[in-house]
Amino acid sequence: MSSEVNRRILLLKNKTTPRDPYHDVFTDAGFEPTFIPLLKHGHVDREKSIEYFTGEEFLSIPVFIITSQRAVECLNECLEHVSSEIKTVIHEKTVYTVGPATTEVLREAGFTNIKGGSDAGNGSVLSDIIIKDVQEGGPSKMIFLTGEIRKDIIPRKLKQAKIDLIEKVIYKTEPRDDIVSNFHSSSKDVRWVVFFSPQGTVPIVEHLQGAERSSAMGPFVASIGPTTEEYLQSYSIGIDAVASKPEAKSLLAAITAYEHQN
Ligand SMILES: *[C@@H]1O[C@H](CO)[C@@H](O)[C@H](O)[C@H]1NC(C)=O
Ligand SMILES: *[C@@H]1O[C@H](CO)[C@@H](O)[C@H](O)[C@H]1NC(C)=O
Repeated sequence: MSSEVNRRILLLKNKTTPRDPYHDVFTDAGFEPTFIPLLKHGHVDREKSIEYFTGEEFLSIPVFIITSQRAVECLNECLEHVSSEIKTVIHEKTVYTVGPATTEVLREAGFTNIKGGSDAGNGSVLSDIIIKDVQEGGPSKMIFLTGEIRKDIIPRKLKQAKIDLIEKVIYKTEPRDDIVSNFHSSSKDVRWVVFFSPQGTVPIVEHLQGAERSSAMGPFVASIGPTTEEYLQSYSIGIDAVASKPEAKSLLAAITAYEHQN
C-alpha cells in the first residue's frame, strides 16, 4: 500500500486498559485506530438495591456470589448508603468470586472472607468450588448478584447440584447517549469500520445504510465474527472482511487480505 492510503480504522468498542490488543496490533501494522465506546454500565435501580442489601433476605443469608467488577462497583456504591453496623455484617459474609482482579476490588472494599478468586478463573471452576464447599457442610442457600445479561453456567451448575440459589440483578449495560455524536466526529475520512457486537450499534448501522460507500475508498466494513456479520446483513450492510476468530490478529489478517485483493 502506498503511503497516501488512508489507514484510519474505527473500532466500535471500548478501548481496554491498560493495553488494548486491537490498538497494538493495528498500530504496529500501520493503521490509525480510533475507539468509539458504545455501552455504559449502571444500577438497575440504586434505591431498590440499597433496600435489598439492607433487607431481611440479603442480611439473613450469609453467602453470596459476585463475579463481575461492575456488580462489585454497584454493590460498593450501595454500601456507601447503609449504616456502618449493616456494612460490617455484609463485609463479614462469605463472598465467592472469579479471578484475581475482582478479588482485589472486594478486598479493598472491606470484604474479608473471599473465596474462589485466584483459584477460579471462570464460572465453571467457581461453581465446582462452591459445590464442594456445600457438600462439605457449608450453607446451601446463597445469592448471586448479577447484571441483566449473564452467562448461565453458574446458576445451571449450582441448581443441578440442588443448591438453593437466589438471583438478584443489580446492574445493567445500555447504549451510551453520545454514540452518534462520537461516530460523526470520528467517522470522516475513515477507511474501515469494525463491528464487535450488535449491542449499541443501531444508530451507526442506520447511518451506514444511508451513507455513500465507494468501492475504492470505503468506508469498508469488518466484523469480528459470524453473529455480528448476520446482524449487519439483516440491515443489508455489505461486509468486506470477517475475522476467522474474535481476536486482533485474525481481524488484521481478514482486513489485510481484503486490501491485497482490491
Ligand atoms: C467504556 O469506557 C468508559 C470510559 O472510557 C466507561 O465509562 C464505560 O463504563 C466503559 N464501558 C464498558 C462497556 O466497558
Ligand atoms: C474454565 O477453566 C478451566 C481451568 O482453567 C478450564 O479447564 C475450562 O475449560 C474452563 N471452562 C470454560 C467454560 O471456559
